[in-house]
Parts: sequence; C-alpha cells; structure tokens
Amino acid sequence: MDRTFVMVKPDGVQRGLIGEFISRFEAKGLKLVGAKLERLSKERVIEQYREHLEKPFFPGLASYIMSGPCFLMAWEGKDAVAVVRRMIGATNPAEAAPGSIRGDFALDIGRNVIHASDSPESAARELGIHFAPDELIDYSRID
Ligand code: CMP
Repeated sequence: MDRTFVMVKPDGVQRGLIGEFISRFEAKGLKLVGAKLERLSKERVIEQYREHLEKPFFPGLASYIMSGPCFLMAWEGKDAVAVVRRMIGATNPAEAAPGSIRGDFALDIGRNVIHASDSPESAARELGIHFAPDELIDYSRID
C-alpha cells in the first residue's frame, strides 16, 4: 500500500473546502491515516518546498502558505501517490481538467487550493516533515 501527503492550502481551508476534498478521496477508496490543522512555520515551508527555494515565485508561495492554517493529511491506498495526483489535477488550475480538484475549485497557479506529493520518494519525505510516526494510523494493527 502506498501512502501520500496531501495539504489543503490556506485558501482551501478558508473557503470551507476540506470536507469536499476528504469526501472525494474517501469515495475513491483511499484511507485517511493522519490529519491535522496547522499553521506552518517558515522553516517547515522551506523544507516542504526546498526544490523551489530559488524560484522567483518562492517568496509569494511562502507567504501564501503561511497566511493561515493548512489541513495536512496522509492518505493510503493502491497507487495512492499517482491516484491523488490525477485527482487534484495540473498545478496550474487554468490547465487542470474539469472534474479534478484544481479544475473544479481554482483558477490561479498561486492559489491552487491543494498540494499532493508528486512521487513515492516525495511522499516519504513530505510525510516525514509534517507527521511523527505515531501520528499515522496503521489499520493492520487494529482488530
Ligand atoms: P504545489 O503543488 O504546492 O507545488 C509547488 C507550488 O508552487 C505549486 O503548487 C504552486 O502553488 C506554486 N507555483 C508553482 N509555479 C508557480 C508560479 N509560476 N507562480 C506562482 N506559484 C507557483
């Protein structure tokens, strides 16, 4: 079973979209194994987006992500990383397919409502940044 990291960004939280997004992942058959509402520190944003540190949009991205609480989630399921990436749609919402989350709920690349890990390696790294091991549920250990 794969695990992936998903983050509802401050605009998605503020617009009351957390429940809508959770419903979509649950309806798909994915299992929620961790979740918390948190306002990220600058250090955590730098860790999360370290590949974008030198990009011209990084300062705007960092202040957007820190502008309010994010809803951080860990989802589990077969091919969870690829499945969730398809469900959230292209990074630029103007190019995201209708029916995808960004296709249905966003218009601007700088306010694209949700993030999800783009590879199994990123998922392991990002889950490790935001969750302690004991914050993630192992359903195989629950009777
Ligand atoms: P996300 O999937 O969280 O990964 C990196 C984020 O950087 C991306 O979504 C966008 O929010 C942001 N981003 C990427 N490219 C640009 C851009 N050209 N201008 C502003 N923000 C961007």
